[in-house]
Amino acid sequence: MAGSGSAHLRARDEVLLRVEDLVVEFPAGRGRTVRAVSGVSFDLARGETLGIVGESGCGKSSAARALVQLPPPRAGSVRLDGVELTALSGEALRQTRRRLQMIFQDPISSLNPRRRVREIVGEGPRVWNLPGDRVDEVLEAVGLDPATAAVRRPHEFSGGQCQRISIARALILDPEVVICDEPVSALDVSVQAQILGLLEDLKDRYRLTLVFIAHDLAVVKNVSDRILVMYLGKVCELAPSAELISRPAHPYTRALIASIPGGGLDLPPADTLISGEPPSPVSPPTGCRFRTRCPRAAARCAEEEPQIRQVGEDHWLACHYPAASTI
Ligand SMILES: Nc1ncnc2c1ncn2[C@@H]1O[C@H](COP(=O)(O)OP(=O)(O)OP(=O)(O)O)[C@@H](O)[C@H]1O
Ligand code: SF4
Ligand SMILES: [Mg+2]
Repeated sequence: MAGSGSAHLRARDEVLLRVEDLVVEFPAGRGRTVRAVSGVSFDLARGETLGIVGESGCGKSSAARALVQLPPPRAGSVRLDGVELTALSGEALRQTRRRLQMIFQDPISSLNPRRRVREIVGEGPRVWNLPGDRVDEVLEAVGLDPATAAVRRPHEFSGGQCQRISIARALILDPEVVICDEPVSALDVSVQAQILGLLEDLKDRYRLTLVFIAHDLAVVKNVSDRILVMYLGKVCELAPSAELISRPAHPYTRALIASIPGGGLDLPPADTLISGEPPSPVSPPTGCRFRTRCPRAAARCAEEEPQIRQVGEDHWLACHYPAASTI
């Protein structure tokens, strides 16, 4: 077992995106600040899918937007292929941003209702001066019939089909990383499975690297190579999917897994039940941020913040008293 120190939740393969000590802040009124993301670090290997999970408000979207510098983070480093994005501006940032595309939760509102699909999907190449003749190809790739879909407007499609259009709009820019922020949360369960399957197919076909954000661990567990669990702006645990699901060490991860119907882990309720809402990130608890809801909390948890440390070959954890059966 390795120790803590300056390790950064390394991916083992070629690193495409390296995120270090990311901090995102917003004004919270009356001169106060909300630190939505509070020192998050992780690596993304080329070709991998990283799932990011955590309750509403834990900072998933803020972290995702900071990766694409919209807006740039308050502090920290985001390096794509060794290029420091936080140091770029103007045309250099715009060109690099093309390589990182985002897909959002609500596909219908993210598509211009007055435009036809051909214009919506073809707009990016016009803006970036790329060849625009790939519209039919990407529509076909996302499972839409170019002949009929391209001339219609968004309101003529279902939610799932609109998400396919959003994916086509991202794909046509030939991105390396696609950050999917709750891409299936607004869709029916049957449609969710189709969109997840589509993203997996496209990942192989276009050699994409994916960040897949969800509040529900059940959604990401089958599509992610590794999963990062966030709580109140911090990383609790990061591990390969199968290991995280079968040997969760952080009490919060264990609670998330226990809440998956048929999740496969027979964990005692006393060890996994958490109640109430997360505290406000404007004034997080001292010590461990999870301590006000943690079934394992002890005096040390209020005094000393647990630092992220390596507890297995590819397993990272921030907890003073992890589940003994796993670590
Ligand atoms: N533009 C903003 N101005 C002020 N506060 C913000 C802003 N955006 C996010 N926040 C706050 O930052 C924190 C993190 O929000 P964020 O949207 O990143 O969480 P999330 O994990 O994506 O939540 P959800 O699952 O609901 O999408 C929350 O407390 C939120 O209220
Ligand atoms: S450090 Fe303490 S409060 Fe935080 S998750 Fe671990 S046991 Fe719970
Ligand atoms: Mg969000």
